[in-house]
Amino acid sequence: TTDIVLDCDPGHDDAIAALLALTAPELSVRAVTTVAGNQTVAKTTQNARQVLTLADRTDVPIARGMTEPMVRDPMFAEDVHGESGLDGPALPDPAVNTADEDAVELIARTAKEVGAITLVPTGPLTNVGMLLKRYPDIEQYINEIVLMGGAVGIGNYTPAAEFNILVDPEAADIVFTSDVPVTMVGLDVTRSARIRTDEFDRFRKLGTEVGETVAGWLDFFHRFHEDRFGWDGVPIHDACAVAELIDESIVETEKMHVAVETSGNHTSGRTVCDRYGVLESEPNTDVGVGIDRDAFVDLLVEAVARY
Ligand code: BDR
Ligand code: CA
Repeated sequence: TTDIVLDCDPGHDDAIAALLALTAPELSVRAVTTVAGNQTVAKTTQNARQVLTLADRTDVPIARGMTEPMVRDPMFAEDVHGESGLDGPALPDPAVNTADEDAVELIARTAKEVGAITLVPTGPLTNVGMLLKRYPDIEQYINEIVLMGGAVGIGNYTPAAEFNILVDPEAADIVFTSDVPVTMVGLDVTRSARIRTDEFDRFRKLGTEVGETVAGWLDFFHRFHEDRFGWDGVPIHDACAVAELIDESIVETEKMHVAVETSGNHTSGRTVCDRYGVLESEPNTDVGVGIDRDAFVDLLVEAVARY
């Protein structure tokens, strides 16, 4: 099994990504850490505690992370995820407390104890950027970073940028220029992995608390995507990164050089992906370019059915 740390900002798709990871036989979730992103870190932490409780996985250590991006002012996505960051179905009261240490310390300690972890960030990269800065020796304990963020093509929160990278481009820059192997699962993948509304019932029909909750999250998440993009269906962005780790045949990747725009007027937070190698720079990232949508949806339904 692959030992992972989930670094997240739940968030409907973060929550589903966590449920997928927590029940996957291929993965062992060694810690969950939270970051400001979809909502304040107080709210994303509360949500993560509730998701672990829903999953009956109060054994997993959880720590709260950075309150704001490394350089910039915070920015939240309440238009997408609601006031709580995880609006929709009622969740159980949290039965797990956060650790005394912060997210960056918990990730560092876990990495050293386990010896080699895979880091799975599904929110802004602030905690990960801080980790790489605060612990210069940590890279040797991180096998890989498989993140949800960025896009080869157009963005979602601005025409140029995807939300997670847009919120903290300076942290993202640290990640992409580090020596840790990076797999970027961005919008090119996640937009192709939309669950159609006629498939929501596959979760509801499981007849379980978790199945019902996931279906309720999909209903809530869908409203925004229908209004903004006119889509019949929702991209479960963050779960695509976890799916890539569970079964690498699900997500198609290509090696290329990726640079993060940290100073553009209109393009701040853009992941500049040199897909055709026109700059002749050394590839530094495995970039997701496609996904087997049907296999992805089946994987999610099977995972939720295990609860
Ligand atoms: C990303 O932004 C957040 O709203 C989602 O949780 C996902 O991580 C998609 O751009
Ligand atoms: Ca997220």
